[in-house]
Amino acid sequence: MLTPISGTASDERPVATVCMQALDPAFAVAAAVWAKRLQLTFDSDAQFALQLGQEGLQFAELGPNAAGPIRADFIAGAVAHRRLFGGGNGQMIAKAVGIQPGVRPVVVDATAGLGRDAFVLARLGCALTLIERQPLVAALLEDGLLRALGDREVGPIVAQMRLICGNAIDLLGAWKGEPPQVIYLDPMFPQRDKSALVKKEMRLFRPLTGADDDAPELLDTALALATHRVVVKRPRKAPAIAGGKPSYALEGNSSRFDIYPKKSLKARLEAGD
Ligand SMILES: C[S@@+](CC[C@H](N)C(=O)[O-])C[C@H]1O[C@@H](n2cnc3c(N)ncnc32)[C@H](O)[C@@H]1O
Repeated sequence: MLTPISGTASDERPVATVCMQALDPAFAVAAAVWAKRLQLTFDSDAQFALQLGQEGLQFAELGPNAAGPIRADFIAGAVAHRRLFGGGNGQMIAKAVGIQPGVRPVVVDATAGLGRDAFVLARLGCALTLIERQPLVAALLEDGLLRALGDREVGPIVAQMRLICGNAIDLLGAWKGEPPQVIYLDPMFPQRDKSALVKKEMRLFRPLTGADDDAPELLDTALALATHRVVVKRPRKAPAIAGGKPSYALEGNSSRFDIYPKKSLKARLEAGD
């Protein structure tokens, strides 16, 4: 079972028990490597399991009414569907980060999760650094990216995505080298309405990630580093992250993108940057 991912009194993140499982004896050795790296045991009393099988690494709830597993999959499923049919530069996330003809900003996605938003941006031609602090989520993402690298169509897209496991507040605060033009944030949103339909992934991840209550600090740090803009994805009706006010927002059916501009991307790129 997992100990280090459990919350502490100071960060108030929830405690979840997670074990490692090989779904087939053929994966026992590789599963043991993941278990060692993430300090998981093969204890069967856990609430959740990180499972390794034919389809890669997946995170699953255990027990009779458990939801199906989740994994980072860039080749099939919803992400592939969006790649093929989801529209191009007209997508709201593309407009939010400032994609326009001839402009493909360098983006840090500082709350990477399973990398779906980052994948959309990489697919449109942006170079991406992804930061994820939850080691199990980062492991799922790393596995998904590695599997996708070998795919003829998706490989060149994920080759533009570099993953770092760590707390973005620390990593952005100590950034070395060229700062990113755009920093993209999509922190978990504190659940206010218990009856609201929460996506399966949110439900499964929340015991690991908590509600990302330090989002205001992350926003401040991002605003200090990004050269051109910070973009924050929120549920459509949710308040903006506490702190600086966004200059404007783009609203979709369920999500909203709050934009904190610093400099015009277009002007800088036209000047030869
Ligand atoms: C809602 S999910 C992001 C989903 C993602 N946009 C996607 O498309 O898959 C939020 C994620 O941000 C991560 N996160 C929140 N604050 C962070 C921080 N300060 N540093 C790194 N990761 C963070 C959480 O662990 C969680 O996995």
